[in-house]
Amino acid sequence: MEPVTTLRTPFIAGNWKMNLDHLQSIAFVQKLAWALKDAQHDYSAVEVAVFPPFTDLRSVQTLVSADKLELGYGAQDLSQHDSGAYTGEISGAFLAKLECSYVIIGHSERRTLHDETDEVVAAKTAAALRHGIVPVVCVGETAEDLEKHGASAVPVAQLTRVLESVPADAEIVVAYEPVWAIGSGQAATPEQAETVCAALRDTLRPALGEEFASRTRILYGGSVKAANIASFMRQANVDGALVGGASLDVDEFSSIARFQKHVGI
Ligand code: 13P
Repeated sequence: MEPVTTLRTPFIAGNWKMNLDHLQSIAFVQKLAWALKDAQHDYSAVEVAVFPPFTDLRSVQTLVSADKLELGYGAQDLSQHDSGAYTGEISGAFLAKLECSYVIIGHSERRTLHDETDEVVAAKTAAALRHGIVPVVCVGETAEDLEKHGASAVPVAQLTRVLESVPADAEIVVAYEPVWAIGSGQAATPEQAETVCAALRDTLRPALGEEFASRTRILYGGSVKAANIASFMRQANVDGALVGGASLDVDEFSSIARFQKHVGI
């Protein structure tokens, strides 16, 4: 039997967070596309996408479309509502018009700084799917959760709540980002990442079936860089990475995307 990993195209996603304005985004995407072209990157073998701030998306869309780039892109958040009196919010309908393939939902910075509950994350996931955008649903435990409950309990509970609003024929991406590993320089070990990603896949199975569980990509995020990406990608249940800081450096990010060229993989 073929290993199930062959069903899942590895996915390297760069979350820019609140960095790079729309002019900087154009220069960055051009340089990234050139770097990957120079390296003869095969996007069908390893998918690559960037997640710029909202104000950059129109520029990125224009560039990707004009230059026929294979690079994907998405937003970092969306509203759970489709339209109306929600000052400052962005509808999934607007993101769909900008041809966003993906949207990050429930990043720990939004859960912490904007009090996003599991209910809100579930509603936003449903909103993304309503507009034909693939949600990249983030889950992860804090250092305190890790101490109290172990690594898997909180991410599994967070994912379980979201899956209630996901039909079995939907496409979602799950990102496991331990909060203590984000921006800390202290990544999880590959074994820690594998244990939680396997537990997350085991959560998909009873909720949405074997087919859904085996095709859904689960990413690891938290202090990923070119030097450690290969060790994560060797794990059976890690299908890619959600990269923060290192996604803001063209050479570093393109090297992460080319992890298959690194020694030993
Ligand atoms: P760092 O890669 O900077 O640790 O950030 C991870 C992250 O939060 C990506 O969403």
